[in-house]
Formats: sequence, structure tokens, C-alpha cells
Amino acid sequence: MIEIEHISKRYGEKLALDDISFVVRTGTVTGFLGPNGAGKSTTMRLIVGLDALTAGSIRVNGAVYRDFKAPLHEVGALLEARAIHTGRSAYNHLLAMAQTAEHLVIVGKGRVIADTTVKDFVAQASIGATVHVRSPQAMAVRDALAGPGVRIQSHERGTLVVHGLSSERIGEVAAEQQLVLHELTPQRASLEDAYMRLTGDSVEFRTHVPDLAGGEEILEQAA
Ligand SMILES: Nc1ncnc2c1ncn2[C@@H]1O[C@H](COP(=O)(O)OP(=O)(O)O)[C@@H](O)[C@H]1O
Ligand SMILES: [Mg+2]
Repeated sequence: MIEIEHISKRYGEKLALDDISFVVRTGTVTGFLGPNGAGKSTTMRLIVGLDALTAGSIRVNGAVYRDFKAPLHEVGALLEARAIHTGRSAYNHLLAMAQTAEHLVIVGKGRVIADTTVKDFVAQASIGATVHVRSPQAMAVRDALAGPGVRIQSHERGTLVVHGLSSERIGEVAAEQQLVLHELTPQRASLEDAYMRLTGDSVEFRTHVPDLAGGEEILEQAA
């Protein structure tokens, strides 16, 4: 377990970390993400005692890292391993973060901007998303769904794009009216969409490709 409590780090004029707190629980694969310059490397250097805190405290398995007799048995860190993942896009990082990470801590400009499960992160990003409906009775379905707050578009015959209703509600209305549906698909926001939207405001240095540049560290906690 890694407990980070109200840590700050100042390099001269630059406040690299501004009151960051989060917990990495034993057995929970936790992705630590953020745009270039967000403070990921600084945080990880502080965790493994390679740099001194300006304020706050960090405990690894209940103790301060430098007090461990055999620290590499407690935590393993691979910092700035850029060579291993050169050119990996944000999409691929997140694809790797979706398949292995259960929890996400996202930082931007030295602050925590999200501390959430991957599942909730994607669900949150999907709010306001649309539902794709295909029916041989599309016009009748459209009429049955119409109401306040509902917007329905049709880009091709027999299909509807519904804004403002859940797929559950659309299915219920169709059943009540005995209308046949051939497809009922919620359009979920992708993990990358969610990430880009969330971090868009906290990008300090933009690279020409949407790369997580700096998200190349791997922090591994021994069991
Ligand atoms: N040794 C340092 N001296 C001055 N500023 C630094 C130093 N290390 C990092 N910074 C600054 O702290 C901020 C966070 O950097 P860093 O932790 O490397 O971000 P990330 O790893 O998320 O890309 C950046 O603005 C960076 O320029
Ligand atoms: Mg870095």
C-alpha cells in the first residue's frame, strides 16, 4: 500500500506538486496518468526517496521508503523508461490502462484531477452519450419516444440516433407499444475520449502527437 498525503514539491519558483493525496491499495492495479509536466515523475521520485518533499508525507507499506532495510522488496520503480514505450500513443497507453488497471489516478498541473475506478471513469464519460436504434418501424419508434428533453436524429432509413433517453427506457417504451427493434446500442464514450476531455485544460506542454509523454513509468508494489 502506498499512502500519499498532501504532498507538495517546489523547484525554485515552480510548484511541481500542489497538495496531492491518493492511496494505491495493495492488489489494486492503479494507473497513474497525466499530460506531460503534470507531476507524475516527481511524485514517483518522491515515493522512492530520490527527491525530498517540500510538504506532506508518503508511506509505503506503512513506513517511509528510506527507512526500509530492503526497499526493493517493498516497491519497484522503473522511472523514465521512455526507451521501452517510444511513440506509444495516448490511445495505446489507455488501452494498456483499461486492460490492466482497475483504478485510475489522473494528475494535471501538479494536482489530482481524478481518483476513480476505470469503470466509473468510463460511465461518467458516457453520460450524455447517444443510443443507436434500428427498427423496421423506425418512424413509429420515433413517435413513441418523442418527449421533453429527447432529441432524435435519423441519418439513414430505419435507424435512429436518440439523445436524452437510456437504452433501458427505449427498450421499455418499444415493448409497451409492441414495436420491433433490430438494434439497441448505447454509444459509450471511449476511455480515450474521457481522458482527453478531462485533461484538455491541464496540458502544460503539448506535443505534436497526442502522447502521454511522461506516462512511461511503471510502479510495482511487491505483494
Ligand atoms: N528538477 C526540476 N527542476 C525544476 N522543475 C522541475 C524539475 N523536475 C520537474 N520539474 C517541473 O515540475 C513539473 C512536473 O514535472 P514531472 O514530474 O516531470 O511531470 P511528468 O512526469 O508528469 O511529465 C514540470 O513543470 C517540470 O518542468
Ligand atoms: Mg515524467
